[in-house]
Amino acid sequence: RSGAKIVNRTFWVSLLAGVGSFYYVTQKDRTPGPQLPHDPEKKTVVVLGSGWGATSFLNTLDTTEYNVVVISPRNFFLFTPLLPSVAVGTLSPRSILQPTRYVTRHKTRAVKVIEAEAQSIDPVNKTVSFIDNSAIQGKVSSTTIPYDYLVYAVGAEVQTFGIPGVKENACFMKELHDAEKMQRRFLDCLESAAFPGQSEEEIERLLHMVVVGGGPTGVELSGELHDFLEEDLKSWYPELAGKIKITLVEALPSVLPMFSKRLIDYTMSTFKESKIDILTQTMVKEVKEQSVTLAMPDKSIVEMPCGMVVWAAGNKGLKITQDLMAKLPTAQANRRGISIDEYMQMNGTDGTIFAIGDCTASSHAPTAQVAQQQGSYLARAFAQRVKRDRLQDQLQELERSAAMTLHDDERKKVVEEAESVKRQLAKFKIRPFSYSHQGTLAYIGSDKAIADLPFLNGSFASGGLLTYYFWRSAYISTLFSLRNRTLVATDWLRTKVFGRDVSREW
Ligand code: FAD
Ligand code: NAI
Repeated sequence: RSGAKIVNRTFWVSLLAGVGSFYYVTQKDRTPGPQLPHDPEKKTVVVLGSGWGATSFLNTLDTTEYNVVVISPRNFFLFTPLLPSVAVGTLSPRSILQPTRYVTRHKTRAVKVIEAEAQSIDPVNKTVSFIDNSAIQGKVSSTTIPYDYLVYAVGAEVQTFGIPGVKENACFMKELHDAEKMQRRFLDCLESAAFPGQSEEEIERLLHMVVVGGGPTGVELSGELHDFLEEDLKSWYPELAGKIKITLVEALPSVLPMFSKRLIDYTMSTFKESKIDILTQTMVKEVKEQSVTLAMPDKSIVEMPCGMVVWAAGNKGLKITQDLMAKLPTAQANRRGISIDEYMQMNGTDGTIFAIGDCTASSHAPTAQVAQQQGSYLARAFAQRVKRDRLQDQLQELERSAAMTLHDDERKKVVEEAESVKRQLAKFKIRPFSYSHQGTLAYIGSDKAIADLPFLNGSFASGGLLTYYFWRSAYISTLFSLRNRTLVATDWLRTKVFGRDVSREW
């Protein structure tokens, strides 16, 4: 009995300690202390963007040595890997957002956060011009500021290839508002199909969901739509659920080209079981209000009626990126994006512009993993850069005083000191970026995920339920804050217990 008592007491003490420390950490996080003000003696780093690259840079940067200004039209970080889960209501939108100020308020020196869209960059005069393009504007809504260093991390936009009707009629899956729009449209299709007197043909059209692009975004979204159908819609729309059809259209011969053959086959067979149709070697030529026009493998043109089209056909550079590249035509001719060196420096500039993430054209895929590693690498390199700048300043100062010193003995001492600083500078090297691939993961629906993980000198491919739990734990640990981890975990629990919400927002 006394043993049971001890176990009982230990349990309650540990529970209390756990709750207490959780409360302490969260409250400490909520009430950041005072910060150092901007220092006119320090160099100014302007960061464009608040996505993977920029946030990772801000998280790692030691702001003691720099004045930092962040400019982004979005005043938050969006955890894109879980965006398809938001589109079907598995997760609440706010669970995968982190306000940029939550990051910057915890830095040693105050960081200015400006919600604005950069319009142009002048690499010669080292300035950025930006505008407030939000719905509510004050009397001043555009300005230009100088920078000493520019961290360019504006990402990319959805590639439409100029295909007619895509912008007007399709939903995208890139930003938070895209996921919310898709959710509304999907539920609207269901309600319209349930309208009394609807013909069978119209019901079939309204309930046909077409996903364009067999890359990871299209595959994950198709899997999430399938889960929504199986786990919730069958209960709340029993007369319609059996008629919902999901078609994934891909121009290439297979989906998920970045995964191993075994995992591609596994995905194809899982989709077959889930009754998700995959049309490969099929190119979407036009998106109309109620249909998509397809060029089939046999070159025939088919018009496929549908209620919703989700466009997930890849990325292209933003206009501001193209404009910036056009200012440096000889060094920046890559159509995929900004060419950078191994220190993230934009080619053709004087070492003051650094570009990271999806806006760049490097040997790495445009992924969050790459942008995150580039961001934290760059912040570490900035810490080294401060040391180098300091040595350079010290050298200049010593050379100046050597020139001004009249006594030989004293001059000799100063020259020796300058030589020692020179030697330190010669040895000083900022290490180049080296990417460490942690593997590729994707959720394919039906509680199954696939993973290509680096293992020894090769790779390890796995798929199924265990991989799904691995996928979940990998993403929950990648989320930047305890707050987001808690919100996502509770959303998963909420969905398991109560299911997804099927009410449509206005
Ligand atoms: P982003 O994260 O897109 O950030 C760009 C930032 O720049 C944004 O804050 C934007 O508001 C801002 N910006 C835009 N224009 C301007 C301007 N003019 N001035 C100032 N700021 C501007 N990758 C993975 O590795 N694993 C995954 O599981 C994964 N899942 C994904 C799922 C989805 C649905 C999507 C869409 C992408 C996914 N990716 C994934 C890819 C990943 O999201 C991108 O590679 C990553 O976001 C790139 O980071 P970034 O910082 O370059 O750009
Ligand atoms: P993507 O570029 O990987 O795939 C787009 C697909 O659309 C391509 O396979 C292309 O052939 C196809 N396509 C283009 N035009 C078409 C048309 N007209 N008709 C039919 N098919 C067409 O794009 P995605 O999936 O948005 O991914 C973008 C980046 O984000 C990639 O680097 C990807 O690796 C990364 N990402 C990674 C994820 C993960 O690791 N789980 C999840 C989502 C994205």
